[in-house]
Amino acid sequence: MRSKIVAGNWKMNKNLEETTALLNELAGKLPDTSAEVIVAPTFVNLAEAVKTLGGSKVQVAAQNMHFEESGAFTGEIAPGMLRNIGVNTVILGHSERRAYFGETDDLLKKKVDTALAQGMRIIFCFGEELEDRKAGKHFELVESQLKNALFHLPASAWKHIVLAYEPVWAIGTGETASPEQAQEMHAFIRKTLESSYGSEIAQGVTILYGGSVKPGNASEIFSKPDVDGGLIGGASLKADDFIGIINGI
Ligand code: G3P
Repeated sequence: MRSKIVAGNWKMNKNLEETTALLNELAGKLPDTSAEVIVAPTFVNLAEAVKTLGGSKVQVAAQNMHFEESGAFTGEIAPGMLRNIGVNTVILGHSERRAYFGETDDLLKKKVDTALAQGMRIIFCFGEELEDRKAGKHFELVESQLKNALFHLPASAWKHIVLAYEPVWAIGTGETASPEQAQEMHAFIRKTLESSYGSEIAQGVTILYGGSVKPGNASEIFSKPDVDGGLIGGASLKADDFIGIINGI
């Protein structure tokens, strides 16, 4: 049985005081759920987030990491540094990192390999631009993103991978993919996994949807058979909104 997950990608938001205030409110109001709940504050607040959430069921993830384990990489963070503060999950391949920081499939393949070698769990993001979808190229684009960065992995690695389909045109726009659009792509992703790794692996991989998930649309999206939860941006920055989404799983 694959995990259900609701993860909050805070992006570049919340200072230290705002982080601890939100996390204390979230931990205090967290509903009883079988889903995993994950938050991804900014790097500077990760250690405090781990401390604040100690004893709660909310897990902490990083929003990125470097592909080297140490060295002359000004401004970068190594996976060992994340594990050293109790962070064992990392988001990789977010469309904002691909767009603003030039992250390519090849670079992400290196990050994936290093993260796995360092014992990290990966939430791997991918998704098409609006023009890809309008041109009917969204399936081939998503397939190439997955195969280029992940399909060199052995079957055993997939227990450490969570996939997050995030159509770029739905991120931060309020233009949420319809539940049918999400299910169609998630089913395609699972089929693509099955063709390379077989049914057992394919059925065991958690596939999250991300892109303007809100309390009002979460339960319908999450009700689809191949949608196993969400990767939430804006709505993860307010406890009541994030909890409203968790209640939808
Ligand atoms: O990583 C999740 C994020 O890209 C989705 O953002 O604000 O559309 O929920 P948002």
